[in-house]
Amino acid sequence: SKDRNGIDQIVLSNPRGASARVSFYGGQVLSWTTDQGEELLFTSSKAIFKPPNPVRGGIPICFPQFGNRGALEQHGFARKKIWLIDENPPPLPHNDSNGKAYVDLILRPSEEDLKIWPHSFEFRLRVSLSADGNLTLLSRIRNINSKPFSFSIAYHTYFAISDISEVRVEGLETLDYLDNLCQRERFTEQGDTLTFESEVDRVYLSSSDVAVFDHERKRTFLIRKEGLPDVVVWNPWEKKSKSMVDFGDEEYKQMLCIDGAEIEKPITLKPGEEWTGRLELSTVSSS
Ligand code: BG6
Repeated sequence: SKDRNGIDQIVLSNPRGASARVSFYGGQVLSWTTDQGEELLFTSSKAIFKPPNPVRGGIPICFPQFGNRGALEQHGFARKKIWLIDENPPPLPHNDSNGKAYVDLILRPSEEDLKIWPHSFEFRLRVSLSADGNLTLLSRIRNINSKPFSFSIAYHTYFAISDISEVRVEGLETLDYLDNLCQRERFTEQGDTLTFESEVDRVYLSSSDVAVFDHERKRTFLIRKEGLPDVVVWNPWEKKSKSMVDFGDEEYKQMLCIDGAEIEKPITLKPGEEWTGRLELSTVSSS
């Protein structure tokens, strides 16, 4: 199907009624629902769906740069490009499609992209929805150039939550993080769990899996990742929300970005080499 700007989208659904919607613009997941049709990802009511704007919500992919840590535009260009269906994806090392609904997309640099980032690559993305409703984003990035290149990547996941003051994040305790609100100064997390009472913009380093507990909705999000050691935690809070044109003043209460990422140590690919990263999101209900 197409959205109102004529951009293709694909809807994945499973037999129990869960679904996921993927836009070809940015290869961005814009919706992921439970069996009952409840939305699990946040999208701003003020999101601008018209290219060349990035879309505020879902899971934008930041590539080949995270944030402003380099010469490229904020979060790189991949989230603002039209991806194509990958008609002939090379086989995956282990069968990743068993019993799943999935779509394979591909991004190749345009002439214009090569002027700003002179590295030929193929970025293959498989988005899949399993029979139990888990959402997986599997990325394969290959250097098809004759020189090495380095990149960073983040799956900038906007989780829909009941109330930012009621959620807590586990899995980041004792880790070091870089604080974007303090010139990326390095700190060590002291708390047992992470709760929120002001703006947060951090990159936690070398984490394993992360859980987001939403008491009010009796829901826990589980974030499992491979090849993605870092975790971005972002909530703009009140003041920053007001400065973003594509974000409602009060919407910071209903979202929390937790990204599986590789930021601190960019990946270097030699000619012909391929990198794989995998993010799997699932939910558990609690009472
Ligand atoms: C976060 C960055 O991950 O993304 C923040 O660390 C940034 O600094 C946020 O504000 C949103 O970025 P953008 O470009 O989508 O507004």
